[in-house]
Amino acid sequence: MSTTRRQLDTTELEDRVKRMYQEVALQPEREFHFETGRELAERLGYSAAELDRIPAAAIESFAGVGYFLDLAAIEPGEAVLDLGSGSGTDSFLAALAAGEDGSVVGVDMTDEQLAKARLLAADAGFRNVEFHRGYIEDPPVDAEGFDCVISNGVINLSPDKPAVFAAVARALRPGGRLALADIVTNEQLPEGVTCDASLWAACIGGAMQRDVYREAIRAAGLEIETWRENPDYRFLSERADNAVRKYGVRSVSLTARRPERRD
Ligand SMILES: C[S@@+](CC[C@H](N)C(=O)[O-])C[C@H]1O[C@@H](n2cnc3c(N)ncnc32)[C@H](O)[C@@H]1O
Repeated sequence: MSTTRRQLDTTELEDRVKRMYQEVALQPEREFHFETGRELAERLGYSAAELDRIPAAAIESFAGVGYFLDLAAIEPGEAVLDLGSGSGTDSFLAALAAGEDGSVVGVDMTDEQLAKARLLAADAGFRNVEFHRGYIEDPPVDAEGFDCVISNGVINLSPDKPAVFAAVARALRPGGRLALADIVTNEQLPEGVTCDASLWAACIGGAMQRDVYREAIRAAGLEIETWRENPDYRFLSERADNAVRKYGVRSVSLTARRPERRD
């Protein structure tokens, strides 16, 4: 029996996502379906004083969807992994919090974002942050190597979210935590939206229904501790806005913990 079910072409999707975030790195002043830059960061809750301490060019290409670093509560000396680090805004802020005895590894698949983040780190003298090329579904890092995994506006872009949460659980030491901002929906999105690579790359098409998202985190062995809505995040284009209103597409910040090992 033939099936009429449309499939998302994951190769085309990766290509679209890379092209979109290549432009965010190289031409942040362009118009996208979503906001970018310092004004967005400040509206989401990043303090101006905090942003003043990191490279301005990183913030120009900021494309996060919420503030969550208060929830991450990174302490001096901690090891932090930033999944989908982009041009580095959260990685640099995490590096300041972790201090010279701590470290941050940012992972991203888009070369232009990586090149920008690496250049800015070198220019600004951030010696405790490194940026590596890789996929968030299988980041090139040691198992149990991190106290905290952070991510902003990225997991919705992955076609395999269970693999991402499994990778988070592997990367965290027992007792370590995940703190992130991401896009979820009230209603399951229809195929017309999920199969639209352009809406997917704009952080809408790939958004999971929120209960399914929470279950994917739990299925990886992580316990959700905090869940907070970010009403100040909004999409810009009319097409995006229609999907937002119809399906309750929204930004949330959360924390989840890998339980301590019981011997
Ligand atoms: C919306 S941007 C957010 C960037 C950054 N976290 C920020 O707040 O500015 C998404 C980033 O995730 C990266 N990305 C998307 N899917 C990825 C994947 N499967 N593996 C690695 N990086 C990915 C993109 O290259 C892009 O830099």
